[in-house]
Amino acid sequence: MSFVFDSTKPIAIGCDHAGFAYKTALVKWLIEKGYQVKDFGTFSADSVDYPDFAHPTASSVAKGETCFGILLCGTANGVAITANKHPDIRAGLCWQNDVAIVTRQHNNANIICIPARFVALVLAQQMIELFMTTAFEGGRHQTRINKIPC
Ligand code: RB5
Repeated sequence: MSFVFDSTKPIAIGCDHAGFAYKTALVKWLIEKGYQVKDFGTFSADSVDYPDFAHPTASSVAKGETCFGILLCGTANGVAITANKHPDIRAGLCWQNDVAIVTRQHNNANIICIPARFVALVLAQQMIELFMTTAFEGGRHQTRINKIPC
């Protein structure tokens, strides 16, 4: 399986305090695997507001400065709701491997949102690998994506 995003650009990552421990581990893991990473914080376990980190992460993906995004918070709902306010962002909440695959195949998601309080770190890693190596299927799914904007 090969990387389906633009490998010349870094991967964007952001989180709140609930995702901080997983983000720290994921940044290290991605760098060890040879990927470039742009880390939008947060940078400690102190309580913060997830939009302050989800917005800049989503902006970087929307502007094409980064190739895809990873967002983490407790449930992943806060970061997903925030990121999906950005035109051209399709942020999908993933909690099992098959969801990560279909979120790429059907939704052409460009941000994976991971509920750090409800999935194991190894599952988060598996989902990220599947997300970044699964191609969009296009066709009827593109027709549906075209109907998303308000
Ligand atoms: C933080 O306690 C929690 O509310 C946040 O991480 C997230 O789950 C919100 O959607």
